[in-house]
Amino acid sequence: MSNNKRPETMERITTRELADAFIAEQIDALRKQIGDKKVLLALSGGVDSSVVAALLIKAIGKQLVCVHVNHGLLRKGEPEQVVEVFRNQMDANLVYVDAIDRFLDKLEGVADPEQKRKIIGAEFIRVFEEEARKLDDVDFLAQGTIYPDILESGPVKAHHNVGGLPEDLKFELVEPIKFLFKDEVRVVGQALGLPDGMVFRQPFPGPGLGVRCLGAITRDRLEALRESDAILREEFAANGLEGKVWQYFTVVPDFKSTGVKNGLRSFDWPVIIRAVNTRDAMTATVENVPFELLQKITARITSEVPGVNRVLYDLTPKPTGTIEWE
Ligand code: XMP
Repeated sequence: MSNNKRPETMERITTRELADAFIAEQIDALRKQIGDKKVLLALSGGVDSSVVAALLIKAIGKQLVCVHVNHGLLRKGEPEQVVEVFRNQMDANLVYVDAIDRFLDKLEGVADPEQKRKIIGAEFIRVFEEEARKLDDVDFLAQGTIYPDILESGPVKAHHNVGGLPEDLKFELVEPIKFLFKDEVRVVGQALGLPDGMVFRQPFPGPGLGVRCLGAITRDRLEALRESDAILREEFAANGLEGKVWQYFTVVPDFKSTGVKNGLRSFDWPVIIRAVNTRDAMTATVENVPFELLQKITARITSEVPGVNRVLYDLTPKPTGTIEWE
């Protein structure tokens, strides 16, 4: 295994110029390492894997094969954005895998959060492995490892609780951003021409909406979750909170309450809004979202999202509540 300590002489990448220099250096190093071989990358559309993809596309073009697995638990518009940015705009070699039914079938009736995580993680590896086996002569596996992952101080990726690829699928690792901190990855992402919406994306857990659709996931509640999350993101963006609040999302529990809609009694789900700020995700405080904005979001969600009749705002800091509900 190669050296995993950030060189002491490495300057912190804070400007466009420093990012350009880093990119030029990496392109050189990647071409030397990879030669005319092929590289495989699981491209989620998150900041880290997107920056690695963009770097590799610059360095080796179509020798990079990106695999985007849509497990049905992504936010509204995300799979479409990955295809648009990487296939249409960057002309990348992108394999899009629609694995929605596969994941949702496996998750059917499973209510335990850790069990859900295990199923999603294991199924992800299985789908990726199947795609890898379809390709000939791939020697390298690229990963969006960043420095906090190596230092193991970031709880976000430390959550992953599944093993890696099987032994017979042996790849040499390509980790071009492994010495970068998150803010540096974003500066590099901007210099690479990735859209701001991708570069400044809030953290999104690997199991995605799967841990926000509480208990056993059903397709209708998942849809209510995806739609309410999209409304929340739209309203936060329109009101200057995007990029200011560290993480914000909706949660749909697996119980219903009574209400009235159009003069008739309803029995529908509530939607919970969570909006928090943190430095390292170990502790978190709740964003003081203006009450009028919360009222507007409530009105939109209850009128636009089928099956929802109430909206709640989670006021709990971490501790005692974790950021996610599961
Ligand atoms: P909690 O809920 O533990 O979350 O306060 C801290 C941060 O970690 C993210 N998170 C996850 N990320 N896989 C991930 O990749 C997971 O299973 C997972 N669970 C929580 C969470 O979104 C927050 O940013």
